[in-house]
Amino acid sequence: MTVCWLRRLRRWAGSGLIIALNTLATGAAIGAEPDPLAHRFGGPFTLTSHTGQPVSDQDFRGRFMLVYFGFTHCPDLCPTGLSVLTEALEAVGAAGDAIQPLFITVDPARDTPAALAAYQKSFHPRLVMLTGDEPQIAAVARAYKVHRRKYLWPPTAGSTGGDYGVDHGSLMYLMGRDGTFRTLIPHGTPVDKVVAILKRYIAND
Ligand code: NI
Repeated sequence: MTVCWLRRLRRWAGSGLIIALNTLATGAAIGAEPDPLAHRFGGPFTLTSHTGQPVSDQDFRGRFMLVYFGFTHCPDLCPTGLSVLTEALEAVGAAGDAIQPLFITVDPARDTPAALAAYQKSFHPRLVMLTGDEPQIAAVARAYKVHRRKYLWPPTAGSTGGDYGVDHGSLMYLMGRDGTFRTLIPHGTPVDKVVAILKRYIAND
């Protein structure tokens, strides 16, 4: 009888220990990867800048990348998003040099380096605009999980389809100094909030 109870006690103690170890292990895993989304966005890319230079994600290690996808013919989202990005970086000031703003086109057929260079003049002077061939753009859009879909414009009956737009995801991605994902900034976030987010990451990362 006594022996039997001792065995049970040992079993309970054993299972208790396993639970405690599992809790510790889970805690350690959470500590090592604070954001479960961290691995879902971003990845290596090789593209061409608006000045015609080859650019890869590796070029920006040691700095943050603030990545926005869009196209120069975009009627609404892109001009607004890029204006917010520009104003926020100006407000962050010199500390903002730690951040490399990047615009990646979802419309490489029309957004040649020359087209991007003309568009770039309207926004932050350090903004680098990137294009590539269709497989390169498809790959980077896939890596960042960017929705991208062509539609005829204007969307009227009988439209010949001579012109088109590209419906696209409008999130801004902040990538850390090591090139991995930090956070998303949704379209419509006020400039002062974007500034606060950028300053917080510059100070803590
Ligand atoms: Ni757009």
